[in-house]
Amino acid sequence: MPPLLSVEGLETHFATGQGILRAVDGVSFNIDKGEVLGLVGESGCGKSVTSLSIMRLVQPPGRVAAGRVLLEGENLLAMDDETMRRVRGARIAMVFQEPMTSLNPVFSIGDQIASAVLAVNLLGDWLRDTLDPRLTV
Ligand SMILES: Nc1ncnc2c1ncn2[C@@H]1O[C@H](COP(=O)(O)OP(=O)(O)O)[C@@H](O)[C@H]1O
Ligand SMILES: [Mg+2]
Repeated sequence: MPPLLSVEGLETHFATGQGILRAVDGVSFNIDKGEVLGLVGESGCGKSVTSLSIMRLVQPPGRVAAGRVLLEGENLLAMDDETMRRVRGARIAMVFQEPMTSLNPVFSIGDQIASAVLAVNLLGDWLRDTLDPRLTV
């Protein structure tokens, strides 16, 4: 079985007036099913751009210049846009920075992540029954 997520030699560059900025420069890691990985580093070291690259959400003048992002062995970077749109939200998702705009402090984080999974109908009734009913309408 391949890892749940495997990032191999990821490079993401931004074209700037002063030349190419190598925001992500050869990042590799694996995450197995059930595993939690914390990416830690000083501000500006490339954590957000790494995440956006995995989700294929880097906007020009940025671009993923090299590497592979394998989700259960499938390279997300090689998928056509329509297939990637179906993967995003259903098989891989991101909570964006500024938690107050992404998350509601009234509900537990677990329930809010679960409600996103429920919205794409992955686990159905079993999950619905475990959630705060205000999140399942
Ligand atoms: N749109 C952009 N244009 C140019 N440089 C960018 C852009 N977005 C991010 N960067 C640069 O990429 C590097 C990594 O940024 P980022 O991933 O946001 O860092 P952090 O680890 O704080 O999340 C930084 O040097 C940042 O200035
Ligand atoms: Mg960041």
